Amino acid sequence: MRNRNSLWIVILIALAPAVAPASRQQCRDLFAVGLSRSFVRAEADRSVERILRNVSPADAKPGVIVAAEQRENPPYYYHWVRDAGLAAQALVSAYNRSEDPSERNLLRQRLQEYSRFSEFIQTQPTKTDLGEPKFNVDGTAYNDPWGRRQNDGPAIRASSFIQLYRALDRDGLLTPSERLRLYKTELPARSVIKRDLEYVSHHWREPCFDLWEEVKGDHFYTRMVQRRAMIEGADLADQVGDFGAAKWYRLQARDIERDMLSFWDVDKGYFVATKNRLEGVSYKNSGLDIAVILALLHGSTGDGFLAFDDAKVVATLEKIETAFAALYPINRSPDAPGVAIGRYPEDRYSGDGFSGGNPWPLATLAMAEAYYRMAEAKLKKGEAGLANTLMLKGDRFVARVKYHTGADGSLYEQINRDSGYMVSAKDLTWNYAALFTATAARQRLSRIETPR
Ligand code: NOJ
Ligand code: NOJ
Repeated sequence: MRNRNSLWIVILIALAPAVAPASRQQCRDLFAVGLSRSFVRAEADRSVERILRNVSPADAKPGVIVAAEQRENPPYYYHWVRDAGLAAQALVSAYNRSEDPSERNLLRQRLQEYSRFSEFIQTQPTKTDLGEPKFNVDGTAYNDPWGRRQNDGPAIRASSFIQLYRALDRDGLLTPSERLRLYKTELPARSVIKRDLEYVSHHWREPCFDLWEEVKGDHFYTRMVQRRAMIEGADLADQVGDFGAAKWYRLQARDIERDMLSFWDVDKGYFVATKNRLEGVSYKNSGLDIAVILALLHGSTGDGFLAFDDAKVVATLEKIETAFAALYPINRSPDAPGVAIGRYPEDRYSGDGFSGGNPWPLATLAMAEAYYRMAEAKLKKGEAGLANTLMLKGDRFVARVKYHTGADGSLYEQINRDSGYMVSAKDLTWNYAALFTATAARQRLSRIETPR
């Protein structure tokens, strides 16, 4: 059986040009010597352009960020609060570093649309208040059965607007009315950022559905992005003189931190994704999940809490890599760089049903970015050699995603575990946000690379 599988893999590899016509040789090169500066730059630009295609589409309310353009199998033409917030964060970073005035204008305009749309959906009646995970593109709540509530959304959204507030403020582009629309001291909160901060600060202890929308319980990912929102929110509150709120948010951040450490499983030797499971998918026995790595990427505040070179973080990262390397047939190919990574080993969601879990580009890119962030931490400690090794390790995950990408550059939600073809939602917005943040982290390491 094993041999038969290997035979298939050999055949599939032989057919690989059909999977990735233009990039196979390029991938080998990338694998051998690391990503070139021009490649990284081009991928970063491409990802911004692809995110923008999914913002304010013609038949939607301005400011909608759809999860993907695809309307069926799977139906992703909705505004998911989490996906949209992550995409918006990438767009703010792109705005911050862009030197092209017309690009900056466009990004600002789209982000302001997103801010008005977010204000609209915050005030819509929903089944779960601000914990509602997804909205129709006219801004009304999606009311069919769903894994709700999902409390990571408001936290991610708050961070996206705090970033936007700071960027516009720095550039002198925050009008007095815009400033107050985003943050106003009054309670009950009626400003975009403070609404979410109040919600997070009062509800983070409550169980909710996880980022994969499958399990109700307490989640490492949700907690980590909530902690970030509380810390950044406290800083902003201080800045605008809302001192009582700042103190309250900081208190929550400290309590969240204490709770987070209890996700460490001594016997397993890694952080588990969920504890106190109440309902939902019951076959996630290992607790091993890329959600933990995503949590560190989306929830980091750079203050040293669960840093990327923390021993427990590194142990978790290694366990995830090992598990997926052994799991997917396409990971047995000696020719493909890096390891294709999925959500969690027991996953069955295939996009159009439950015929088996697959590797996901956004999960594979998260590994890349985690290695880059680890390299960054080592570089700060003066360990340039080790940083370089880690950077090259990260490069292999980017190269791996590239290996499965067709000539049009589209990233789908998943990569078929047997064939290596991309499947499920085409041009998933989150993929491009992940590609953008990974390449941005890679560019911050340019000090240790050989210019090419
Ligand atoms: C759709 C969700 O978005 C996906 O994450 C999940 O695996 C399936 N529904 C099954 O619950
Ligand atoms: C399924 C993923 O599990 C979930 O995290 C995401 O929000 C939706 N797809 C939309 O992209």
